[in-house]
Amino acid sequence: MLYRSVGQTGKQASILGFGCMRLPIRQGKAHLIDEARAQAMVDCAIRNGINYFDTAYVYHSEIPFQAGTSELFLGRALKHQRAKVFVATKLPTWLVQSRTDMDRYLNLQLDRLQTDHIDFYLVHSLTGGLWTKLSQLDVRGFLDAALADGRIRHAGFSFHDDGPQFKPIVDAYDWAFCQIQYNFMDEDYQAGRAGLDYAAGKGLGVIVMEPLRGGGLATRVPEEVQTCWDSAPVKRRPAAWALRFVWNHPGVSVVLSGMSEPWQLEENLRTAEEGLPNSLSAAELRLVQEARNSFLARTQIHCTSCNYCMPCPSGVSIPDNFEQYNNLAVYRDRDAAAFYYFHILGPEQRASHCTECGHCLELCPQHIPIPERLKDVTREFEG
Ligand SMILES: NC(=O)c1ccc[n+]([C@@H]2O[C@H](COP(=O)([O-])OP(=O)(O)OC[C@H]3O[C@@H](n4cnc5c(N)ncnc54)[C@H](OP(=O)(O)O)[C@@H]3O)[C@@H](O)[C@H]2O)c1
Ligand code: SF4
Ligand code: SF4
Repeated sequence: MLYRSVGQTGKQASILGFGCMRLPIRQGKAHLIDEARAQAMVDCAIRNGINYFDTAYVYHSEIPFQAGTSELFLGRALKHQRAKVFVATKLPTWLVQSRTDMDRYLNLQLDRLQTDHIDFYLVHSLTGGLWTKLSQLDVRGFLDAALADGRIRHAGFSFHDDGPQFKPIVDAYDWAFCQIQYNFMDEDYQAGRAGLDYAAGKGLGVIVMEPLRGGGLATRVPEEVQTCWDSAPVKRRPAAWALRFVWNHPGVSVVLSGMSEPWQLEENLRTAEEGLPNSLSAAELRLVQEARNSFLARTQIHCTSCNYCMPCPSGVSIPDNFEQYNNLAVYRDRDAAAFYYFHILGPEQRASHCTECGHCLELCPQHIPIPERLKDVTREFEG
């Protein structure tokens, strides 16, 4: 296993981290972790040098965004090997209503994880708006106190918002690390490449999530993308190309992969053996761009998320609907797109809430017939 420094923390983490959001489950139910299989995977990971485990209060929950079973499982799985690894978990930001809540959740998480400290503690899934709210509730004071009394060793945040919201959050606290979505399709999405460079340049450790875009870059790969990979002189599986692309960036500390099958862990461990910074050749990087273009060619609605059409008087979140429709066409991951459509978007934000008032039509610089295309989205998701 290769190791990299996590920013300026002095900690050396394995370049492959174990994401505990997609553990093997039973009966198709997210909260029913198949503990025997998952424990075997955790043990195999540790035997092979993985020392970074990422979980969250809400992972593997029965009800989205409520307490899940991932932390409880990880606490049991690491009971006799806790000292060998770093544990990362996250404050469930959307459940927090006061400063007292922050301490309450952290103390509960220490119990759930059967540990007296969290090595890497993140403020979960920040957006610009959520950061403003948490700042008003004194999240900085909370982190300072938890660092001082040793309940957490390093403070960081994970991020899911538009690019411009990223830098102000990086600059707003003395963070040790951040966690961002990054893969060869998302160089210009959310924090993106610019955010990665900025955070790494300021000395933050950068932990990457969704390196395979939740699996979309590794499974159900369209024929034209596979043809592209097949044309390479060096044969690699799609997941290996995607992971190598992320490790190629010297600013990346750890790449988290949510592995739901033992063979995925074994394959990613093998790929990690070669995950050195700047190890892809110029020709290989060109091939990755070709694969990216092949994915992008599947885009159905050429919305640039410029937001000129917003706000819609009926509350429809126009670009978000188009994004999920495109994601379905590009990555063919219906579960992920439908989860966003039904659980992240509120009922009034969904395409089906469009009244066809026509207010948005004149505003779109791409001349997208918005109400018509929203009907396509409605048919696709609510059929
Ligand atoms: N903080 C946050 O807001 C946040 C958000 C997202 C993720 N995370 C963290 O980041 C971790 C990584 O994100 P992610 O789980 O989305 O990672 P990912 O690596 O992009 O996707 C994981 C999925 O990819 C597939 N996969 C993994 N290895 C593979 C291989 N070798 N070949 C083929 N398919 C493979 C599996 O899909 P199948 O199960 O379909 O086989 C797996 O469930 C999460 O587990 C979680 O810990 C944090
Ligand atoms: S046509 Fe539909 S999406 Fe456009 S502004 Fe009217 S209600 Fe909103
Ligand atoms: S104005 Fe057009 S391109 Fe811009 S977000 Fe709206 S639909 Fe997309």
